[in-house]
Amino acid sequence: MNLKVCRNGKLSRRVSYSAILVMTLIAVGLLSGCSDNKDGQEPPQPPPPVKHKLEKGKECLSCHKEGKENAPIMKHPVQGNCTGCHKPLIQ
Ligand code: HEC
Ligand code: HEC
Repeated sequence: MNLKVCRNGKLSRRVSYSAILVMTLIAVGLLSGCSDNKDGQEPPQPPPPVKHKLEKGKECLSCHKEGKENAPIMKHPVQGNCTGCHKPLIQ
């Protein structure tokens, strides 16, 4: 009888120890997983402002469709009024 109790006690102590270990590992995994997700998920970005002068008569797309004159290529589809979203910093 005594021996059995002793064994059970040892067993449950071992179980709870490993349970804590497993829970710690899961918690650490979840935490790092969350931060990984934040990085990978690409939160919605605000439209970057236009830092260059707006050249009258020049279509935004004439440069930004194919990246002429080192213009960053527009990654999104053509949508609405460019300057409605991309506020010019210099007039
Ligand atoms: C003559 C070619 C040309 C035309 C026309 C032009 N851009 Fe640009 N644009 C550039 C170049 C080159 C850059 C990168 C250097 C800079 O920011 O000045 C740029 C940068 C930008 C950026 C900043 C991107 C970033 O990551 O910060 C935005 C937004 C932008 N242009 C929008 C527009 C809009 C809207 C129009 C039309 C009103 C327009 N552009 C017309 C050449 C042009
Ligand atoms: C509804 C709002 C909206 C409109 C309208 C819009 N854009 Fe954008 N644009 C964004 C957002 C948001 C981003 C940043 C995320 C992305 O790249 O998709 C962006 C990114 C860009 C970039 C990339 C900048 C870089 O540094 O990589 C360029 C260039 C650009 N837009 C040009 C244009 C032009 C030219 C037009 C007009 C034909 C236009 N946008 C219309 C919202 C808009």
